[in-house]
Amino acid sequence: MKPIYYEDGALKMLDQTLLPTQEVIHSYTDYREIAQAIVAMIVRGAPAIGVTAAYGVYFGAEEFKNQPAETFFKSMDTVCETLRATRPTAVNLFWAVDRMAGVIRANADKNPIQITALLKQEADAICAEDIEMCRTMGAYGAALIHKKDTILTHCNAGALATADYGTALGVVRAAWEAGKEISVYADETRPFLQGARLTAYELHKDGIPVTLITDNMAGWMMKQGKIDCVVVGADRIARNGDVANKIGTYSVSILAKAHGIPFYVAAPTSTIDFDMWSGDDIVIEERDCREISHIKGQQIAPDGVAMENPAFDVTPHQNVTAIITEKGVVYPPYDINIPALQES
Ligand code: MRU
Repeated sequence: MKPIYYEDGALKMLDQTLLPTQEVIHSYTDYREIAQAIVAMIVRGAPAIGVTAAYGVYFGAEEFKNQPAETFFKSMDTVCETLRATRPTAVNLFWAVDRMAGVIRANADKNPIQITALLKQEADAICAEDIEMCRTMGAYGAALIHKKDTILTHCNAGALATADYGTALGVVRAAWEAGKEISVYADETRPFLQGARLTAYELHKDGIPVTLITDNMAGWMMKQGKIDCVVVGADRIARNGDVANKIGTYSVSILAKAHGIPFYVAAPTSTIDFDMWSGDDIVIEERDCREISHIKGQQIAPDGVAMENPAFDVTPHQNVTAIITEKGVVYPPYDINIPALQES
Protein backbone atom coordinates (compact mmCIF):
# COMPACT_ATOMS: atom_id res chain seq x y z
CA MET A 1 0.00 0.00 0.00
CA LYS A 2 1.77 3.12 -1.25
CA PRO A 3 0.27 6.40 0.01
CA ILE A 4 2.66 8.49 -2.14
CA TYR A 5 4.42 7.66 -5.39
CA TYR A 6 5.81 9.36 -8.46
CA GLU A 7 4.07 8.44 -11.70
CA ASP A 8 3.76 10.05 -15.14
CA GLY A 9 5.49 13.26 -14.13
CA ALA A 10 3.34 13.84 -11.03
CA LEU A 11 3.36 13.05 -7.32
CA LYS A 12 0.35 10.87 -6.52
CA MET A 13 -1.15 10.92 -3.04
CA LEU A 14 -3.84 8.75 -1.52
CA ASP A 15 -6.05 11.25 0.32
CA GLN A 16 -5.84 10.11 3.95
CA THR A 17 -8.49 12.56 5.09
CA LEU A 18 -11.09 10.56 3.13
CA LEU A 19 -10.11 7.08 4.31
CA PRO A 20 -11.48 4.57 5.07
CA THR A 21 -14.71 5.25 3.18
CA GLN A 22 -13.23 6.74 -0.02
CA GLU A 23 -9.98 5.83 -1.78
CA VAL A 24 -9.13 8.96 -3.79
CA ILE A 25 -5.74 9.63 -5.39
CA HIS A 26 -4.69 13.22 -6.14
CA SER A 27 -1.96 14.29 -8.59
CA TYR A 28 0.45 17.12 -7.73
CA THR A 29 3.11 18.99 -9.71
CA ASP A 30 3.11 22.33 -7.83
CA TYR A 31 5.29 22.51 -4.71
CA ARG A 32 2.84 24.95 -3.04
CA GLU A 33 0.03 22.42 -3.39
CA ILE A 34 2.32 19.68 -2.09
CA ALA A 35 3.07 21.85 0.96
CA GLN A 36 -0.65 22.46 1.42
CA ALA A 37 -1.34 18.70 1.24
CA ILE A 38 1.07 18.21 4.17
CA VAL A 39 -0.66 20.98 6.17
CA ALA A 40 -4.11 19.51 5.45
CA MET A 41 -2.85 16.00 6.36
CA ILE A 42 -3.82 14.53 3.01
CA VAL A 43 -0.44 12.93 3.59
CA ARG A 44 0.73 12.44 7.17
CA GLY A 45 3.08 10.33 9.27
CA ALA A 46 6.69 11.38 9.80
CA PRO A 47 8.47 9.35 7.09
CA ALA A 48 5.71 9.96 4.51
CA ILE A 49 5.91 13.70 5.15
CA GLY A 50 9.69 13.53 4.57
CA VAL A 51 9.32 11.69 1.25
CA THR A 52 6.58 14.09 0.14
CA ALA A 53 8.67 17.15 1.00
CA ALA A 54 11.61 15.71 -0.97
CA TYR A 55 9.41 15.48 -4.07
CA GLY A 56 8.10 18.97 -3.25
CA VAL A 57 11.65 20.32 -3.56
CA TYR A 58 12.06 18.50 -6.87
CA PHE A 59 8.81 19.94 -8.28
CA GLY A 60 9.91 23.41 -7.15
CA ALA A 61 13.10 22.92 -9.18
CA GLU A 62 11.07 21.81 -12.20
CA GLU A 63 9.18 25.10 -12.02
CA PHE A 64 12.31 27.28 -11.91
CA LYS A 65 14.89 25.24 -13.85
CA ASN A 66 14.68 27.44 -16.97
CA GLN A 67 15.37 30.63 -15.02
CA PRO A 68 18.85 32.21 -14.73
CA ALA A 69 20.98 30.42 -12.10
CA GLU A 70 20.72 33.25 -9.57
CA THR A 71 16.90 33.29 -9.76
CA PHE A 72 16.84 29.49 -9.57
CA PHE A 73 18.91 29.36 -6.35
CA LYS A 74 16.86 32.13 -4.73
CA SER A 75 13.60 30.45 -5.70
CA MET A 76 14.83 27.12 -4.32
CA ASP A 77 15.41 28.79 -0.92
CA THR A 78 11.75 29.83 -0.96
CA VAL A 79 10.65 26.33 -2.02
CA CYS A 80 12.58 24.74 0.86
CA GLU A 81 11.28 27.31 3.37
CA THR A 82 7.67 26.79 2.24
CA LEU A 83 7.98 23.03 2.77
CA ARG A 84 9.79 23.40 6.11
CA ALA A 85 6.97 25.65 7.39
CA THR A 86 4.23 23.03 6.92
CA ARG A 87 4.39 21.04 10.18
CA PRO A 88 6.86 21.55 13.03
CA THR A 89 7.18 18.28 14.97
CA ALA A 90 8.18 15.43 12.63
CA VAL A 91 11.93 15.80 12.06
CA ASN A 92 11.84 13.68 8.87
CA LEU A 93 10.43 16.73 7.07
CA PHE A 94 13.49 18.85 7.93
CA TRP A 95 15.84 15.91 7.39
CA ALA A 96 14.50 15.36 3.85
CA VAL A 97 14.45 19.05 2.88
CA ASP A 98 18.00 19.48 4.25
CA ARG A 99 19.14 16.48 2.25
CA MET A 100 17.62 17.96 -0.94
CA ALA A 101 19.11 21.39 -0.16
CA GLY A 102 22.47 19.63 0.28
CA VAL A 103 22.23 18.33 -3.31
CA ILE A 104 21.62 21.88 -4.55
CA ARG A 105 24.59 23.21 -2.57
CA ALA A 106 26.95 20.41 -3.56
CA ASN A 107 26.17 20.94 -7.25
CA ALA A 108 26.12 24.74 -7.34
CA ASP A 109 28.63 24.67 -10.22
CA LYS A 110 26.11 22.85 -12.45
CA ASN A 111 23.23 24.44 -14.35
CA PRO A 112 19.63 24.41 -12.95
CA ILE A 113 18.49 21.74 -15.42
CA GLN A 114 21.27 19.39 -14.31
CA ILE A 115 20.55 20.12 -10.64
CA THR A 116 16.84 19.42 -11.17
CA ALA A 117 17.67 15.99 -12.62
CA LEU A 118 19.83 15.26 -9.57
CA LEU A 119 17.00 16.37 -7.26
CA LYS A 120 14.66 13.88 -8.91
CA GLN A 121 17.22 11.12 -8.31
CA GLU A 122 17.59 12.18 -4.66
CA ALA A 123 13.81 12.23 -4.04
CA ASP A 124 13.51 8.76 -5.62
CA ALA A 125 16.38 7.57 -3.42
CA ILE A 126 14.76 8.97 -0.24
CA CYS A 127 11.52 7.19 -1.18
CA ALA A 128 13.22 3.86 -1.97
CA GLU A 129 15.41 4.03 1.16
CA ASP A 130 12.34 4.64 3.31
CA ILE A 131 10.75 1.39 2.14
CA GLU A 132 14.02 -0.46 2.59
CA MET A 133 14.44 0.93 6.14
CA CYS A 134 10.89 -0.08 7.07
CA ARG A 135 11.49 -3.65 5.92
CA THR A 136 14.80 -3.90 7.79
CA MET A 137 13.22 -2.43 10.93
CA GLY A 138 10.38 -4.87 10.55
CA ALA A 139 12.79 -7.80 10.59
CA TYR A 140 14.62 -6.50 13.69
CA GLY A 141 11.37 -5.74 15.47
CA ALA A 142 9.70 -9.04 14.61
CA ALA A 143 12.38 -10.83 16.63
CA LEU A 144 11.02 -9.08 19.75
CA ILE A 145 7.48 -10.32 19.16
CA HIS A 146 6.45 -13.72 20.52
CA LYS A 147 4.42 -16.28 18.63
CA LYS A 148 0.94 -15.37 19.93
CA ASP A 149 1.49 -11.80 21.11
CA THR A 150 -1.22 -9.20 21.13
CA ILE A 151 0.25 -5.80 20.30
CA LEU A 152 -1.24 -2.43 21.17
CA THR A 153 -0.49 0.42 18.79
CA HIS A 154 -1.43 4.09 18.82
CA CYS A 155 -2.06 6.40 15.86
CA ASN A 156 -0.99 5.10 12.45
CA ALA A 157 2.65 4.18 11.94
CA GLY A 158 1.86 1.95 9.02
CA ALA A 159 2.33 1.82 5.27
CA LEU A 160 0.16 4.93 5.12
CA ALA A 161 2.62 6.86 7.28
CA THR A 162 5.66 5.88 5.20
CA ALA A 163 6.45 5.24 1.54
CA ASP A 164 5.25 1.66 2.17
CA TYR A 165 5.23 -1.15 4.79
CA GLY A 166 5.33 1.05 7.90
CA THR A 167 7.43 1.42 11.04
CA ALA A 168 5.39 0.09 13.99
CA LEU A 169 3.08 -1.72 11.59
CA GLY A 170 6.17 -2.85 9.65
CA VAL A 171 7.11 -4.77 12.81
CA VAL A 172 3.58 -6.17 12.95
CA ARG A 173 3.68 -7.11 9.24
CA ALA A 174 7.10 -8.76 9.53
CA ALA A 175 5.97 -10.81 12.55
CA TRP A 176 2.82 -11.84 10.67
CA GLU A 177 4.79 -12.73 7.53
CA ALA A 178 7.12 -14.82 9.72
CA GLY A 179 4.10 -16.93 10.66
CA LYS A 180 3.57 -15.58 14.19
CA GLU A 181 -0.10 -15.70 15.13
CA ILE A 182 -0.20 -12.16 16.40
CA SER A 183 -3.11 -9.78 16.74
CA VAL A 184 -3.33 -6.02 17.20
CA TYR A 185 -5.34 -3.65 19.35
CA ALA A 186 -5.57 -0.26 17.64
CA ASP A 187 -6.32 2.85 19.71
CA GLU A 188 -8.75 5.04 17.76
CA THR A 189 -6.46 8.07 18.40
CA ARG A 190 -8.62 11.10 19.01
CA PRO A 191 -9.03 13.68 17.65
CA PHE A 192 -7.86 12.90 14.09
CA LEU A 193 -8.74 9.19 14.41
CA GLN A 194 -5.66 7.82 12.64
CA GLY A 195 -6.12 4.55 14.54
CA ALA A 196 -9.75 4.04 13.59
CA ARG A 197 -9.57 5.41 10.07
CA LEU A 198 -6.08 4.31 8.98
CA THR A 199 -4.54 1.59 11.19
CA ALA A 200 -7.74 -0.46 11.33
CA TYR A 201 -8.16 0.08 7.57
CA GLU A 202 -4.71 -1.06 6.49
CA LEU A 203 -4.42 -4.04 8.86
CA HIS A 204 -7.95 -5.21 8.09
CA LYS A 205 -7.21 -4.91 4.36
CA ASP A 206 -4.08 -7.07 4.80
CA GLY A 207 -6.00 -9.69 6.80
CA ILE A 208 -4.00 -9.08 9.99
CA PRO A 209 -6.31 -9.51 13.02
CA VAL A 210 -7.08 -6.07 14.46
CA THR A 211 -9.46 -4.95 17.19
CA LEU A 212 -10.33 -1.28 17.41
CA ILE A 213 -10.69 0.31 20.85
CA THR A 214 -11.18 3.88 22.02
CA ASP A 215 -8.14 5.51 23.61
CA ASN A 216 -9.53 5.31 27.13
CA MET A 217 -9.85 1.50 26.95
CA ALA A 218 -6.13 0.73 26.69
CA GLY A 219 -5.47 0.60 30.46
CA TRP A 220 -8.35 -1.77 31.07
CA MET A 221 -7.19 -4.10 28.28
CA MET A 222 -3.75 -4.19 29.90
CA LYS A 223 -5.22 -4.85 33.34
CA GLN A 224 -7.02 -7.89 31.93
CA GLY A 225 -3.77 -9.27 30.48
CA LYS A 226 -4.93 -8.75 26.90
CA ILE A 227 -1.84 -6.82 25.76
CA ASP A 228 1.65 -8.35 25.55
CA CYS A 229 3.53 -5.33 24.23
CA VAL A 230 3.09 -1.85 22.80
CA VAL A 231 4.67 -0.85 19.48
CA VAL A 232 4.36 2.75 18.29
CA GLY A 233 6.10 4.98 15.77
CA ALA A 234 7.77 8.34 16.38
CA ASP A 235 7.87 11.83 14.94
CA ARG A 236 11.12 12.91 16.56
CA ILE A 237 13.50 11.15 18.92
CA ALA A 238 15.96 13.20 20.95
CA ARG A 239 19.55 12.05 21.67
CA ASN A 240 18.52 10.94 25.15
CA GLY A 241 15.74 8.66 23.85
CA ASP A 242 12.76 10.93 24.59
CA VAL A 243 10.15 10.23 21.91
CA ALA A 244 7.66 12.66 20.38
CA ASN A 245 4.71 10.83 18.90
CA LYS A 246 0.97 11.28 18.45
CA ILE A 247 -0.87 12.77 21.42
CA GLY A 248 -1.85 9.97 23.79
CA THR A 249 1.38 8.00 23.35
CA TYR A 250 2.71 9.36 26.65
CA SER A 251 -0.37 8.08 28.50
CA VAL A 252 0.00 4.65 26.85
CA SER A 253 3.65 4.53 27.94
CA ILE A 254 2.67 5.16 31.55
CA LEU A 255 -0.01 2.48 31.39
CA ALA A 256 2.48 0.01 29.90
CA LYS A 257 5.02 0.76 32.64
CA ALA A 258 2.39 0.36 35.36
CA HIS A 259 1.46 -3.06 33.99
CA GLY A 260 5.04 -4.25 33.29
CA ILE A 261 4.41 -4.40 29.53
CA PRO A 262 7.29 -3.70 27.08
CA PHE A 263 6.93 -0.39 25.24
CA TYR A 264 8.73 -0.40 21.87
CA VAL A 265 9.24 2.50 19.47
CA ALA A 266 9.92 1.69 15.80
CA ALA A 267 11.50 4.51 13.80
CA PRO A 268 14.16 4.95 11.12
CA THR A 269 17.28 6.95 12.02
CA SER A 270 15.84 9.79 9.87
CA THR A 271 13.42 10.29 12.82
CA ILE A 272 16.29 10.82 15.27
CA ASP A 273 17.25 14.43 15.86
CA PHE A 274 20.91 14.00 16.75
CA ASP A 275 21.18 17.75 17.45
CA MET A 276 18.47 17.71 20.11
CA TRP A 277 19.58 16.74 23.59
CA SER A 278 16.21 16.09 25.18
CA GLY A 279 12.53 15.91 24.37
CA ASP A 280 11.97 19.14 26.31
CA ASP A 281 13.11 21.06 23.22
CA ILE A 282 10.71 19.42 20.76
CA VAL A 283 8.18 21.83 19.28
CA ILE A 284 4.68 20.41 19.62
CA GLU A 285 2.27 21.29 16.84
CA GLU A 286 -0.99 22.87 17.97
CA ARG A 287 -3.82 22.17 15.56
CA ASP A 288 -7.22 23.71 14.91
CA CYS A 289 -9.57 23.04 17.84
CA ARG A 290 -12.31 22.26 15.35
CA GLU A 291 -10.72 18.79 15.25
CA ILE A 292 -11.99 18.45 18.85
CA SER A 293 -15.27 20.35 18.71
CA HIS A 294 -16.51 18.66 15.53
CA ILE A 295 -16.65 15.13 14.13
CA LYS A 296 -17.23 14.96 10.38
CA GLY A 297 -18.65 18.49 10.42
CA GLN A 298 -21.01 17.69 13.30
CA GLN A 299 -20.56 19.94 16.36
CA ILE A 300 -20.10 17.93 19.58
CA ALA A 301 -18.96 20.65 22.04
CA PRO A 302 -20.72 23.81 23.24
CA ASP A 303 -20.05 27.07 21.41
CA GLY A 304 -17.38 29.17 23.08
CA VAL A 305 -15.90 26.45 25.33
CA ALA A 306 -12.12 26.61 25.85
CA MET A 307 -10.14 23.88 24.06
CA GLU A 308 -6.54 22.86 23.46
CA ASN A 309 -5.32 20.62 20.68
CA PRO A 310 -1.66 19.59 20.95
CA ALA A 311 -1.07 17.07 18.16
CA PHE A 312 1.88 15.29 19.82
CA ASP A 313 3.33 14.52 23.23
CA VAL A 314 6.73 13.42 24.45
CA THR A 315 7.28 10.05 26.09
CA PRO A 316 10.27 10.16 28.46
CA HIS A 317 13.05 7.71 27.65
CA GLN A 318 12.55 6.01 31.02
CA ASN A 319 9.28 4.58 29.65
CA VAL A 320 10.81 3.21 26.45
CA THR A 321 11.94 -0.43 26.58
CA ALA A 322 13.76 -0.30 23.23
CA ILE A 323 13.90 1.66 19.98
CA ILE A 324 13.79 -0.41 16.79
CA THR A 325 15.74 1.23 13.94
CA GLU A 326 17.01 0.04 10.56
CA LYS A 327 20.45 -0.16 12.17
CA GLY A 328 19.29 -2.52 14.90
CA VAL A 329 17.47 -2.47 18.24
CA VAL A 330 18.71 0.21 20.63
CA TYR A 331 18.42 -0.24 24.41
CA PRO A 332 19.17 2.11 27.30
CA PRO A 333 21.34 3.96 28.11
CA TYR A 334 20.02 5.91 25.14
CA ASP A 335 22.23 8.95 25.67
CA ILE A 336 25.17 6.66 24.81
CA ASN A 337 23.57 4.21 22.40
CA ILE A 338 21.64 6.71 20.25
CA PRO A 339 24.64 8.95 19.40
CA ALA A 340 26.57 5.72 18.58
CA LEU A 341 24.07 5.10 15.75
CA GLN A 342 25.38 8.16 13.95
CA GLU A 343 28.79 6.53 13.53
CA SER A 344 27.49 3.05 12.62
O1 MRU B 1 -0.28 13.84 12.85
P1 MRU B 1 0.23 12.63 12.14
O2 MRU B 1 -0.84 11.70 11.67
O3 MRU B 1 1.21 12.99 11.05
O4 MRU B 1 1.05 11.86 13.25
C1 MRU B 1 1.63 10.63 12.94
C2 MRU B 1 2.24 9.97 14.10
O5 MRU B 1 2.30 10.48 15.19
C3 MRU B 1 2.90 8.66 13.81
O6 MRU B 1 2.78 7.80 14.90
C4 MRU B 1 4.39 8.91 13.55
O7 MRU B 1 4.55 9.87 12.55
C5 MRU B 1 5.09 7.69 13.15
S1 MRU B 1 4.67 7.28 11.50
C6 MRU B 1 5.61 6.03 10.93
